[in-house]
Amino acid sequence: MNLKESPTSATAETAAPIVSVRDACCTLGGRKVLDNVSLDVMRGQVVVLIGPSGAGKTTLLRSLNHLERVDSGTILIDGLPIGHRDVTGAKLVGTTELARRRSEIGFVFQHFNLFPHMTAAENVWNGPVRVLGTPKDEARRNALALLDRVGLADKAESRPSQLSGGQQQRVAIARALAMRPKVMLFDEPTSALDVEMVGEVLTVMRELARDHMTMIAVTHEMRFAREVADRIVVMDAGRIIEDAPPEQLFGNPQHERTKTFLSTIA
Ligand SMILES: Nc1ncnc2c1ncn2[C@@H]1O[C@H](COP(=O)(O)OP(=O)(O)OP(=O)(O)O)[C@@H](O)[C@H]1O
Ligand SMILES: [Mg+2]
Repeated sequence: MNLKESPTSATAETAAPIVSVRDACCTLGGRKVLDNVSLDVMRGQVVVLIGPSGAGKTTLLRSLNHLERVDSGTILIDGLPIGHRDVTGAKLVGTTELARRRSEIGFVFQHFNLFPHMTAAENVWNGPVRVLGTPKDEARRNALALLDRVGLADKAESRPSQLSGGQQQRVAIARALAMRPKVMLFDEPTSALDVEMVGEVLTVMRELARDHMTMIAVTHEMRFAREVADRIVVMDAGRIIEDAPPEQLFGNPQHERTKTFLSTIA
């Protein structure tokens, strides 16, 4: 059963997609890694992205954040091209504006990427102070509230090296949330964790979904996907080959390659 409310809930009724990818192509090392990818994600939706290794899942997430630049096509976040001044794509935005636009997109990586010399709280309030100009006191208060939200109120003064992998990943989620993002991207957020820590991270992600955070998550956690995702998007060889609600995707996959992939992770 899907944990989320129906798409008629208050946050989901806005017609314009919050993420809109049109005909995106990206070549890396001479290979077309994204091959005419188009994807719309509506406000409040949870999309789980799956597919075999090398399919282009990470590249797609990175391109949403302009960590990877597409060769052609458009990527709009809440109507604005992520790395360009306007939809023609003719001119790149400056670094300050890019940082501001990127701040609207939370990115949670497999390997946490926390600053090792900062405490958990500093990791969380650093971005809002530096990029958004939030006053330090306010940013600190928000950071403590967010650490509480991910169950780490008592770890605010700990450094990453003093935290378990699951705790570090929860700090990383709090850090991303501190920027008040419009969408959260997760790239295999539990893959580097010992099995006993996977649940605590998935619990935080479930709660975000319940709070109607728009999310795109690459994950192999198929139980999570069934419960939380509105849509499962399957990528293969740089293309989106299938896009369906979980019950349909798992119960009646249309594409041979989807069937093959699902059989490898079952
Ligand atoms: N910087 C790069 N230079 C050259 N090739 C790259 C680069 N980054 C990714 N690739 C290639 O692009 C393809 C897609 O990679 P990507 O990391 O997006 O796949 P993925 O679906 O996330 O795979 P995985 O499940 O293994 O994480 C792969 O063939 C990869 O080798
Ligand atoms: Mg990847």
